[in-house]
Amino acid sequence: MLIDIDFSGRHVMVFGGTTGINLGIADCFAQRRGRVTVVSRKQENVDAAVAQLQRHGGEVLGVVADVRDPQATKAAVDASVARFGPIDVLISGAAGNFLAEAKDLSPNGFGVVVDIDLKGTFHVMHSAYPHLSRPGASVINITAPQGQRPMPRQVHACAAKAGIDQVTRVLAQEWGPEGIRVNAISPGPIGDTEGVRRLVASNPQAKERAQARIPLRRFGELDDIGNLAMFLSSPFAGYLSGAIVPCDGGGSVEADRHRPE
Ligand code: HXC
Ligand code: NAP
Repeated sequence: MLIDIDFSGRHVMVFGGTTGINLGIADCFAQRRGRVTVVSRKQENVDAAVAQLQRHGGEVLGVVADVRDPQATKAAVDASVARFGPIDVLISGAAGNFLAEAKDLSPNGFGVVVDIDLKGTFHVMHSAYPHLSRPGASVINITAPQGQRPMPRQVHACAAKAGIDQVTRVLAQEWGPEGIRVNAISPGPIGDTEGVRRLVASNPQAKERAQARIPLRRFGELDDIGNLAMFLSSPFAGYLSGAIVPCDGGGSVEADRHRPE
């Protein structure tokens, strides 16, 4: 189910938008008639995402770029702005992750996640800043519970996502006076996604245990995150900035973990 907000003609740019959660977000905006650009590293992912989004009948652009490369990130922004004009909605969601204890992580293993998630988010925001609609742009970073909650075998992602949370808050401070709102979405485990496959539910038993810890007793769906992204980018959220918004079925409070027997 999608909430009914119209994004006709709005320029929506989604970094990391070719698979999973971020493609789900892009799809929601495309369904609501936004003009959508998706960006990622792999040509085949970009092509498949563009084909999916075009089925909704609107204008779609796909660009290959690695957010670790500030020049490539800027070139992607320039291409998108040349096609669709100032950016109304900017989503930064590119990420990499895997489970590894710190003792088993090489410096490059730690660095690759920080480079994609945290430095990539800075590159995206820095490149897009001159082209954001003002007043009115909505910037959304995709963070994760790891940003607030320490998790073993996740030192790289915890550090990177905590950094994204602070980038979000600081840029909400700096860009607010220009009418630009900056928020982050922190999804809980979402359906059939790469993040869930890698980290949460590598087998059916692990999936069951993870679901049992969530107050709403289910993993999220792509539309749960897409709906929140559209809400945050709509006039209904016009006074909302600097927020890290969990969308996790209550997972961030995890009542059951502390329930007395
Ligand atoms: C230890 C590892 C490792 C592992 C990679 N490395 N995998 N170390 N355990 N499982 C190390 C490598 O040895 C190397 O260090 C360094 O990381 C870089 O690896 P590369 O393969 O060269 O990097 P690259 O090709 O750039 O790929 C980046 C990646 C990859 C992050 C490693 O997995 C990727 O592209 N991921 C994108 C998709 C993804 O991860 N999606 C899930 C997002 S989920 P050395 O020293 O050997 O050179 C998420 C949170 C979800 O973000 C939260 C759920 C609740
Ligand atoms: P995913 O499908 O692997 O999505 C990652 C996307 O980022 C892909 O489109 C990937 O495409 C792109 N990407 C990766 N590295 C990139 C780089 N260096 N430059 C540009 N693009 C890059 O993972 P997901 O599980 O849907 O996660 C999406 C986002 O949600 C991430 O920010 C993740 O941390 C967050 N999240 C996910 C969950 C979950 O349940 N899945 C929970 C909490 C938070 P290419 O491979 O083509 O580059």
